[in-house]
Amino acid sequence: MASAMAVGAVGFANGASAADNKEVQMLHWWTSGGEAAALNVLKQDLEKEGYAWKDVPVAGGGGEGAMTALKAMVAAGNPPTASQILGYYAVDYAEAGKLGDITSLADKEGWAKVVPTALQKFTTTDGKWDAVPVNIHSVNWIWLNKAAMDKIGGTQPKTFDEFVALLDKAKTAGIIPLALGGQPWQEATLFDSVVASTGGIDFYKKAFIDLDESALKSDTMKKAFDNLAKLRAYTDPNYAGRDWNLATAMVIKGDALVQVMGDWAKGEFVNANQKADKDFLCYRFPGTDGSVIYNTDMFAMFNVPADRKAAQLALADATMSISFQSAFNVVKGSVPARMDVPDTAFDSCGKKGIADVKAANADGKFVGSMAQNYAQPPAIAGAYHDVVTKFFHGEIKSSDAAVTELDKAINAAK
Ligand code: BGC
Repeated sequence: MASAMAVGAVGFANGASAADNKEVQMLHWWTSGGEAAALNVLKQDLEKEGYAWKDVPVAGGGGEGAMTALKAMVAAGNPPTASQILGYYAVDYAEAGKLGDITSLADKEGWAKVVPTALQKFTTTDGKWDAVPVNIHSVNWIWLNKAAMDKIGGTQPKTFDEFVALLDKAKTAGIIPLALGGQPWQEATLFDSVVASTGGIDFYKKAFIDLDESALKSDTMKKAFDNLAKLRAYTDPNYAGRDWNLATAMVIKGDALVQVMGDWAKGEFVNANQKADKDFLCYRFPGTDGSVIYNTDMFAMFNVPADRKAAQLALADATMSISFQSAFNVVKGSVPARMDVPDTAFDSCGKKGIADVKAANADGKFVGSMAQNYAQPPAIAGAYHDVVTKFFHGEIKSSDAAVTELDKAINAAK
């Protein structure tokens, strides 16, 4: 078999051989309109190279369902060629020895020089590359319907209080102020921004990256919960359980003024032919300008049998190409994970996103999202989702109790 493969390897790119399985099996949760359009860019690139695409979509924003499905596949000894993955989920698979090694390709192409070091913590293990970053998303954005803003005479809110005043204006004008998807991961994603806005990015780091007890139990954290409670008053009554992209659609249609969401929301605007500055506006969550609370979509490269490795390398190679990182992220709403991709093809929100990542990275204000598994391992992030959602839906009744519960839940999950 080995010698047959060696003979077959002659004449194939990437060391691929005739015996290779020319299929890329990819698990992901990109099932909304904008997400599917972005994934198509990758499918098409690989199809041009002669690879068939085997899609394993698992619906559910934030990827909880996808992570459960992935766990089952890996446990059954049947991992996909690659899986979309977030932060510490990848670290767990790497530590369990489930990921492959694509270091030779990474070295050949010099990825270490162009991917921010903060991200390399998640794409490498003991110096070996086992995942590729597709993009950099960030959660601290707000997305507004421009016509609705014009109608109420709204201007960019720079502080949390100005944000609340803007929401009040929309309410008075009979527009749903805040389009919210009431699912635990979405509420927790919103809370990331509220915490950074309330306490500043250093406070956010102390609480969520360092898990500093005094920060977690502080009056500032209590105030952050109070601020979160203020936002509840501006949602429509049907927010519970709503998918994130349906909340984006409310803003696109002008039924609602604003959504607080990661920049995957922009993928929905783009997919609906909406234009930045003309149809919609993007601002950093008030009080967080200069900081980027990131979550990067990575493709974790699993330990696959020898005949599937060439396809895996082809996928990694395509994902890390400069042209793909531009084309994909223009559609996805995110920004490239490589710092050497020109911003020419991006709209004003994308250009701002690219500049923000560079500036925040240089200023120590590029921090992982707690809600999106980039600040802490999944068990702790899960505890966070749980407390935030219980507070938001009134099961935890006061900000005092919320702070106590958060500290307790995080300590129990450690
Ligand atoms: C992912 C995005 C995705 C979003 C909603 C996030 O966790 O990073 O790529 O679009 O979830 O599904």
